[in-house]
Amino acid sequence: MDLAPRSLGSSTVAVGPLGLGCWPLAGMTRDGVTREAAVATVRAAIDSGVTHLDTAYCYGEHGESERAIREALPGRRREDVVIAGKCGIHWEPDQAKDPPRRQVVDGRPERIRMQVDETLDRLGTDRLDLLYLHAPDPTVPIEESAGELKRLLEAGKARAIGLSNASAANLSRFATACPLVACQMQFNMLQREIEAEVLPWCLAHGVAMVVYWPLMKGLLAGRMRRGQTFPTSDSRHKYPIFNGPEFDRNLDFVDALRPVAARLGCELPDLVLAWTAEQPGITSVLFGATSPEQVWENAAALRCELDAEARQAIHAAIRARGPVAGRQPI
Ligand SMILES: NC(=O)c1ccc[n+]([C@@H]2O[C@H](COP(=O)([O-])OP(=O)(O)OC[C@H]3O[C@@H](n4cnc5c(N)ncnc54)[C@H](OP(=O)(O)O)[C@@H]3O)[C@@H](O)[C@H]2O)c1
Repeated sequence: MDLAPRSLGSSTVAVGPLGLGCWPLAGMTRDGVTREAAVATVRAAIDSGVTHLDTAYCYGEHGESERAIREALPGRRREDVVIAGKCGIHWEPDQAKDPPRRQVVDGRPERIRMQVDETLDRLGTDRLDLLYLHAPDPTVPIEESAGELKRLLEAGKARAIGLSNASAANLSRFATACPLVACQMQFNMLQREIEAEVLPWCLAHGVAMVVYWPLMKGLLAGRMRRGQTFPTSDSRHKYPIFNGPEFDRNLDFVDALRPVAARLGCELPDLVLAWTAEQPGITSVLFGATSPEQVWENAAALRCELDAEARQAIHAAIRARGPVAGRQPI
């Protein structure tokens, strides 16, 4: 893998090819992720050379992910990590849901301002290296949300600005109101919708592409079993990719990748992450993890080298599987 730091557009911020996605550390994706495990996972990432840490205001009902990063930082130099945060989504109680909460997208300037101040407080830092609008708010003109992010950039509370979960049209409008250097979208071997419009737009405008779900929420790490079911406390139970014939087809795909990883002498998640990182236009790949062991295993992708035979076999497996229908909920 090419380990050279990659600049985010015209900003002074640079990231490595891999980043740690800190969403699972909030303890909301499944039971059993303790605060101790969360802090140890962040430390393991930094110590493994994965210094791009991706979090968000809504990762945890009370900022648990941001707090875990804060706890992991003592003893490490602040300037040695890139902390990427996101604003514009929060949780509200909703007794009609299980668990009793719902996600609210709110891109009003006053909400953004308030969230960023709270985020900086939780992280114990005076600036985010990268601040994304988590998703466009359909009830607020995107230029208004972007204008607030520009003010935060000018105030020094963020060193660079990004936009997540956006269309090419959203990106264009956002960029008229705020310098935009990064875009964060879903992308993995089987979910490649960004290749149609968003990625070409980013390439044409010098905007870095940071991608999430490279492991398809753990599926492509290769540890799931046929017939496995997920409890309702595990958010994966609701995704079509983990249910019925779709799940079986996905596990067939994983089985087709195993001999490719074995021939190269690497673990399956490393093959998957290395392939994802080398796709044209991809700047940084965010993998989630819930333990230091997963981080150590995934960070070994930094040393995984694909060859032409591996690329061909992966391409054939992707073609045989076909695209996964429909965009998954964020
Ligand atoms: N911008 C957005 O709207 C958005 C949306 C989603 C995600 N993101 C960001 O992108 C990051 C990555 O996405 P993600 O975490 O949802 O998905 P992911 O990286 O595809 O999957 C992460 C999950 O896979 C499992 N896993 C990871 N490494 C493993 C290993 N070596 N062996 C076995 N299992 C392993 C872990 O789950 P278990 O241990 O629970 O099995 C882990 O939580 C997020 O953390 C977040 O920072 C952003």
